[in-house]
Amino acid sequence: MPARIHVPTASPKHPLPSSSERQRFRRHLLAWYRAHGRDLPWRNTDDPYHILVSEIMLQQTQVDRVLPKYAEWLGKYPSFEILADAPPNDIVKTWYPLGYNIRPHRLQSIAKQAVADHGGKLPSDAETLLSFKGIGEYTAGAIRSFAFRQRAAILDTNVARVLFRVFVGKGDIKSHAMKKRLWAVSEALVPHKHVFDFNQALMDFGATQCPARKPKCLVCPMKKYCRSYPLAP
Ligand code: ADE
Repeated sequence: MPARIHVPTASPKHPLPSSSERQRFRRHLLAWYRAHGRDLPWRNTDDPYHILVSEIMLQQTQVDRVLPKYAEWLGKYPSFEILADAPPNDIVKTWYPLGYNIRPHRLQSIAKQAVADHGGKLPSDAETLLSFKGIGEYTAGAIRSFAFRQRAAILDTNVARVLFRVFVGKGDIKSHAMKKRLWAVSEALVPHKHVFDFNQALMDFGATQCPARKPKCLVCPMKKYCRSYPLAP
């Protein structure tokens, strides 16, 4: 299957944010993150395996529930090699109670592929990452930006909601066309420097400042230009 790599595309109807709009958004987001960002263990590492474990755990699970399990998992399976060789019922037991139990198997299958084909390491380019079963576009972007510090975009539910609200405002956020447009916006926004902090900040901003319900619009640094302001009283 060919790799699905997004290239930012502007359409005449939906131009991407201009250079000054991008800079303003980056500045506001990074300042917000310095004041309100959470200190989380996967923000103090650039080990690709650690980043992968955190991102797979965080896919459908709240940060609070991931924190103890992340430490336990890395204690028990400190490397791709050890995870690749672990008995499948053991990894499911360790995963409990995070749920969505396909995820530990996915992690193990990635570990096996890393050991078999890449010397026990994760590759850093998008195309090879996307060739792994269990690594989709979001996870590839997270690994590239967090572990390899590349200028790579991310788009998960939280990030899509923030970018939709700030830069789009109306339309169907779930549509394929909107997803494509939001990927392009995310790619346009990633700065050349501070990619790690910028992408982590986007996620925290979506989770704590601009959640689906009750966003904190009144104290939002982007309210002056947000296309959805004010969403809540
Ligand atoms: N959700 C997904 N990835 C995350 C991260 N790196 N930090 C916080 N929440 C997340």
